[in-house]
Amino acid sequence: MSKVKTKYVCQNCGYSTLRWSGKCPECDTWSSLVEEIVSTGKKKSSGNGMLRVNEGSYKLISEISSVNESRTQTHISELDRVLGGGIVGGSVILIGGDPGIGKSTLMLQLAEQIKDKKILYISGEESASQIKLRADRLNYHLGNFYILSETNMEIIEAVIEKESPDIVVVDSIQTVYRPEIESAPGTVSQLRESAALLMFIAKKKNVSVFIVGHITKDGMIAGPKVLEHMVDVVLQFEGERTHSYRILRGIKNRFGSTNEIGIFEMTDMGLKEVLNPSEVFLSQRNYGASGCVISASIEGTRPILIEVQALVTSSNFGIPQRTSMGFDYKKLSIIIAVIEKKLGIVLSKSDIFINIAGGIKIDEPAIDLAVAMSIYSSFRDIPLDSETVILGEIGLSGEIRTISYIDRRITEAAKLGFKRIIVPKGNLKNLNNKKYKSEVTGVEKIREAVEKLI
Ligand code: TYD
Ligand code: MG
Repeated sequence: MSKVKTKYVCQNCGYSTLRWSGKCPECDTWSSLVEEIVSTGKKKSSGNGMLRVNEGSYKLISEISSVNESRTQTHISELDRVLGGGIVGGSVILIGGDPGIGKSTLMLQLAEQIKDKKILYISGEESASQIKLRADRLNYHLGNFYILSETNMEIIEAVIEKESPDIVVVDSIQTVYRPEIESAPGTVSQLRESAALLMFIAKKKNVSVFIVGHITKDGMIAGPKVLEHMVDVVLQFEGERTHSYRILRGIKNRFGSTNEIGIFEMTDMGLKEVLNPSEVFLSQRNYGASGCVISASIEGTRPILIEVQALVTSSNFGIPQRTSMGFDYKKLSIIIAVIEKKLGIVLSKSDIFINIAGGIKIDEPAIDLAVAMSIYSSFRDIPLDSETVILGEIGLSGEIRTISYIDRRITEAAKLGFKRIIVPKGNLKNLNNKKYKSEVTGVEKIREAVEKLI
C-alpha cells in the first residue's frame, strides 16, 4: 500500500520540516507549523522513462520575435501610476492588504473604468448579490462583467477556458483551493498551488489576473514569500482603518518601477484618487498651535507635505510615556535623547506623543528635524512660524545630515506658498544656487535650528 507523506509547513514563511515544533525555526513565528500532505505515495509516470525534448523548445535570443508590451489603462491614474502605466497583458498582480481596507472596492472600481474589456470576478468571500448590491450603491453600470461565486480552482479554470475573459480577479486567494491537494484552503500549499495555476492560465491565455490576498497581523500577506516571488507585480494597500486615506504601494513590479505610490481617499462613494496629496494632508492645519511643524516627505517619487504634531505633557507616572503614530518609535527615542543632550532640556518627566496628521506612515529620516522641533515647540509651548517647512535628518551628535531629493521637496513647499524652508547645510551645494520663491536656510546643528526658528 502506498504511504501518505506529510510535512509541517510554516504558514507564515513557507518553511517546511518533517518534525513539528512550536516555533518556526526560520521566521520565529509561534504555532505557525501546520501538517500538510506532500504526496499520497502514488508514483507519477513519465512515459517509458525516456525524456523527449521537443524541437524548437529552446531558441537563440535573436530568433525570438519581440512583442510590444500591450497595456490596458485602468483610467484610475493612481493605480496606473503604481502599475507603471497600466495592466500588462498576461501579467499576474497580487494586491495585499488588511481586511476591510478596500481591496474589493478597488477591484470593482477597476471594472467600472475598463468597460471595453471582459472581466471575470471570482468571489470566494462575497456572494454575487452582495457584489451587485455594492455596484448598485456606487451607481455603477457594469456591462461586460461576470461574477463567479466559486472557490474550486478546477471549475474556475474551466470557466476561464470557456469565457476567455481579458481580466480575471480572484478575491481572495485565501478562499480558493485545488481539490487534488489535500491541505485545507488558506494553507501555504493551497496558496502556492492555486497561484501557480493562475500564473499558468494567465501566461497561456494571455489574461491579466488580479489576486487579492489578505495580510496577517504582522503585515505580511499570508504565505507571502511563496506568492511574492511567483507573481509579476505585488501591490500593497495600506492605511489606518480609522482614517480615510489609503496608500497603494508597489513592492515588486516586473514591468515598471516600485518607486511609486497611489493615494486614495475612502468616501461613501468608494475610493477617490488624491491628486494633490500635500494640500489634502495639510487641509486641517491648526495655525499658530505649538507642537505643529510642516515637513516634506518623499513617497515614491512624489513630494508630500505633511504635518508633524507633538504633545509634550508632564508625566503622572514614574516611567514617562512615548507614543508615536506614523513615525518610527525607535527613531523617536533617539531624537528625544539627542534633544536632551544637545539642547539641555530634561524630558524624562514628560510624556511625549507624536502623530503624523492624516494617518499616513512616514518611513524616512528627512522629517527627523521636524519631529525634534515639534517636540521642542510643544515642550516650551511656543508655536513655530506657520509659513516654515523643516527638513533634515538628525545624527547622534546633533548634526543635521543631508537628505535626498532636496530640490523636489523645496519646489513642492514653494508651490504651496511656504515662505521659508530650513534644510541641512550640506544640501545647499546640491542646489547650485538655484532660485526658489521661498527663502532657503541651511542649518548644521540642532541647536542652530532652534536659534533660527524660535
Ligand atoms: P472592501 O473593499 O470590502 O475591503 P477588503 O476587500 O479589502 O476587505 O472595503 C470595505 C470597507 O470600505 C468597509 O469597511 C466599508 C468601506 N467602504 C466605504 O467606506 N465606502 C464605499 O463606498 C465602499 C464600497 C466601502
Ligand atoms: Mg474583500
